[in-house]
Amino acid sequence: MKTVDSKQSVTTTGAAKYLGVSNATIYRMVENNLLNPLKTPGGQRRFDIKELEEYKIKSKEIKAPQNPSIKENLVKEGQTSYQQLNLLDLPNVEDSNSVDSSDELVTESDGVIDPRNKLNDLSGKDWLPETKSFWFQKGLGSKHPHAQIERQHPAPFSFQDVGRLIKFFTKEGQHVLDPFSGVGSTLKAAALLNRIGTGIELSEHWNTLAKERLDYEVSTGEALKHTFITGDCRKELKKMVDDSFDFIVTSPPYWSILNKKADHKVQRDRVNNNLATNYSDSVDDLGNISDYSEFLDILVDQVFVQCGRVLKTSKYMCIIVSDFRNKSEFVSFHSDIIQRLNLKSICNRSRLTLQGVKVLLQNHKSLLPYGYPFAYVENIHHQYILIFKKVEIKKKSKKDMN
Ligand SMILES: C[S@@+](CC[C@H](N)C(=O)[O-])C[C@H]1O[C@@H](n2cnc3c(N)ncnc32)[C@H](O)[C@@H]1O
Repeated sequence: MKTVDSKQSVTTTGAAKYLGVSNATIYRMVENNLLNPLKTPGGQRRFDIKELEEYKIKSKEIKAPQNPSIKENLVKEGQTSYQQLNLLDLPNVEDSNSVDSSDELVTESDGVIDPRNKLNDLSGKDWLPETKSFWFQKGLGSKHPHAQIERQHPAPFSFQDVGRLIKFFTKEGQHVLDPFSGVGSTLKAAALLNRIGTGIELSEHWNTLAKERLDYEVSTGEALKHTFITGDCRKELKKMVDDSFDFIVTSPPYWSILNKKADHKVQRDRVNNNLATNYSDSVDDLGNISDYSEFLDILVDQVFVQCGRVLKTSKYMCIIVSDFRNKSEFVSFHSDIIQRLNLKSICNRSRLTLQGVKVLLQNHKSLLPYGYPFAYVENIHHQYILIFKKVEIKKKSKKDMN
């Protein structure tokens, strides 16, 4: 730390105000040598106004987000088996622990959409927080009028979380597919964001509710702008042409956990409120396959690989899942999907490659005393968003083959 006595300096709080960031960010900037504080003879930390001004000018020149190396340098900062039963009692605001520290280092140039950005309509400012490896799950809360259709379904995901993904992985007007669309959370999010949704759902009941949902919760006539297919996604995907969607996002059945008997409060409440506790009794329902290994094979080979075929090259597919317990066994469902799907070949010309695993924190859920006081039994309070990208398999050149 330099020892300079200067009237042209400010305290940490002054520096934070000057740059429009928090004190914590100033500390991080010092740690990362982005700022070099001065020291008064009394040992107090001060920041040279000239240096702050220079930092401000420099930060305007930073082009986000296509040059991640620059950005990274700038922001080194630091039950039972019924896990899938729903999740509607979500707070409307993000958890108080969820302060997004990346917001603090936003510069003016971040507000601009880079002309090289072919992926989405986000400026650098909006892009950066979306790349965090965790998010706090958002929801409307079960009493909200727009949660009443969603509530009927035993395992919907939050249209707000899916909306965040759609916003990141598509531009306005692009096409989004959900092969297990349930009560249409993906289509609702797509509609709200001016994207065009296609949903495949086995149960006519859930699909009818999904259409009603768009008309009631988005706007009258909205359902007509999107495609709702009632059928088995294994068959329906085969009818679709290659490379037709810009983004795929889905949450599959978690094997047959909804069919297992469990004395779980969420389930008891649903029974008492006359709400469904499984998707359907159909033999085509993937949630009714009793053998886990067979279920995984079908899910990966007949659904996700087909999804890869209908996804455009260089585009993304997000799969939202949770791990779960089957009696006393912990099943790492997310990791089983990754093992089977990562690098799977699609028609011998492309692959689905894992790009990241985002954790969706469910910090609003109550802790239940499973196992207490005898054994460790986890309260599973998060889901995973598995992010895959379709990439072309590079053909070997003659040179490589020699
Ligand atoms: C986890 S839920 C998806 C919920 C959806 N994300 C939502 O927010 O409403 C899985 C859905 O897959 C459906 N499903 C099960 N087997 C299917 C199949 N073979 N083809 C299409 N949909 C199927 C179930 O009916 C259920 O609605």
